[in-house]
Amino acid sequence: MAREFSTVGVVGLGTMGAGIVEVFARNGIDVLAVEISESALERGRAILTGSTDRAVAKGKLAEADRDALHERVRFAVGLDALHSVDLVIEAVPEHLDLKQRIFAELDRVCRPDTILATNTSSLSVTEISVATTRPNQVIGIHFFNPAPVMKLVEVVRTVVTAPEVVADVEALCARLGKVDVTISDRAGFIANALLFGYLNHAVAMVESHYATREDIDAAMKLGCGLPMGPLALMDLIGLDTAYEILDTMYRRGGRDRRHAPVPLLKQMVTAGLLGRKSGRGFYTYQRPGSPVVVPDEATPPAAEAALADGARAITKVGIVGSGTMATGIIEVFAKAGYEVVSVTRGAEKSATVCEAVKTSLNKGVVRGKLAEADRDAALGRISWSATLDHLADVDLVVEAVVEELSVKKALFASLDEICKPGVVLATTTSSLPVVDVAMATQRPADVVGLHFFNPAPVMPLVEVVRTIRTSPEATATARAVCAALGKTGVVCGDRSGFIVNALLFPYLNDAVKMLEASYSTADDIDHAMKLGCGYPMGPFELLDVVGLDVAVAIQRELYLELREPGFAPAPLLEHLVTAGYLGRKTRRGFRDHSHR
Ligand SMILES: NC(=O)c1ccc[n+]([C@@H]2O[C@H](COP(=O)([O-])OP(=O)(O)OC[C@H]3O[C@@H](n4cnc5c(N)ncnc54)[C@H](O)[C@@H]3O)[C@@H](O)[C@H]2O)c1
Repeated sequence: MAREFSTVGVVGLGTMGAGIVEVFARNGIDVLAVEISESALERGRAILTGSTDRAVAKGKLAEADRDALHERVRFAVGLDALHSVDLVIEAVPEHLDLKQRIFAELDRVCRPDTILATNTSSLSVTEISVATTRPNQVIGIHFFNPAPVMKLVEVVRTVVTAPEVVADVEALCARLGKVDVTISDRAGFIANALLFGYLNHAVAMVESHYATREDIDAAMKLGCGLPMGPLALMDLIGLDTAYEILDTMYRRGGRDRRHAPVPLLKQMVTAGLLGRKSGRGFYTYQRPGSPVVVPDEATPPAAEAALADGARAITKVGIVGSGTMATGIIEVFAKAGYEVVSVTRGAEKSATVCEAVKTSLNKGVVRGKLAEADRDAALGRISWSATLDHLADVDLVVEAVVEELSVKKALFASLDEICKPGVVLATTTSSLPVVDVAMATQRPADVVGLHFFNPAPVMPLVEVVRTIRTSPEATATARAVCAALGKTGVVCGDRSGFIVNALLFPYLNDAVKMLEASYSTADDIDHAMKLGCGYPMGPFELLDVVGLDVAVAIQRELYLELREPGFAPAPLLEHLVTAGYLGRKTRRGFRDHSHR
């Protein structure tokens, strides 16, 4: 029989604590909510009220249920009020000495059988537990932000946590409607260990002006389907909390430089820019605690204003190549009303591409997404050629040939001979330096990267890569073209992986290293990222879709360019590739897909 928890204490009513109070009260459990002062208590009460009022407004909570929820919550200043609760969850700031003091005090105040839990994200639960005389009754219960929404709870058992305490807490999580993964005490547990290197890397991109906050966030949302971008997430987490988590992970987690907090973060915390809770972090919010972003001096001008940046008029576009990407890109441009000249290496290839474009457009018609007349008009706008000479009068060329530098360089040298002056020359390379291609021409200022995602007609994102020689006009043109295609163009520097792959693949690689270290299972890691962070797929699911060989290749390039030891491909990933387990395409990767 699992133990009954009828009254629970929550210590600290900040970002997490207030949400944790709501989770318990929503599930019929009485809560004693404790803060350090009357004013902090008021702040915590306001967070709770704001959240439940929003739930009512959205129709997710009945008014009567909200009122019943509030009746279950009592508020108090100081820990003494917690003398008769069954369980305490601590959610005070991420400082070991503070938490140890609180646990020593809780140990004195609470009944001997009370379970003491910490919501720490990165500190050692074991070190917190030894501040009490009952380390066997101390456990980590790590909720995710926002606690009422995110389904995951990481249950952290130390080497001394009693098995029945673990079982009781697991049963409690089920009662709260949460999914728990139980793990041992390691810095960052599952989700944060995989998340924070990525978040810190995104901050480094802002700090180095590699890309703007809006573009980084848009890239990860649109390119990976994440619920929010990394900088918006940092603001939600709280920059002070994020700083402490990174700092602890760096010190506890093997001094991985990727966890050393980026200096900008410390500066922002010192300046009081803590994220949503202070009204300003990477973004500016309507008021402290508000989720509504308002424009500030860093907000980019609207698309129309950006056109004044010298974007050139584009009506006719040449697309070179006959593979998956070229085919998709031809469709995208033709559908958007551009006149398209497709150049392949021969009539046969052109016929194949033409068929593929027709098939794809027809699918749109069958699904009711495209009128027959629009399909015919799109097809009518495409002309098919086997010679680059037909690109003499286009305004933009998009190259999507094989991913080999020598081939692309030769092609760009020819384009340079053939195309009229002022044409923007774009490469869709996903891994080669754009500047190498640019320097094969006499007009590097007009060369950009236009990194489409597969399948191009579906994916809403394009990375616009600007080299150190690209002119502002060429960049503005590329961005305006993306907008005209109905895509979001994000601008970034010419570095391996651009934005999306540079942020995504090291995280996937880290997940493999975590599995390799036997810290957790592929299923639990996938669960943790989906239910704790709202990712559409877990890392192992995604690796099997992307292809393990592709992942190793990208990871090797990132490693070679940045020489970051943490980027070295996980040996397990390389072994699986060597063994021919490449993912879904070979019916086996991290999982066996032969029966699906
Ligand atoms: N922010 C997140 O996304 C997130 C997610 C999961 C876990 N966590 C963890 O949750 C914990 C709390 O983080 P947060 O982001 O909610 O912090 P926060 O700064 O938003 O809130 C901390 C609260 O604790 C209160 N407090 C400080 N000292 C206290 C004391 N002695 N007694 C009672 N209350 C006290 C403060 O007044 C404040 O309201 C940390 O351990 C953090 O690592 C945070």
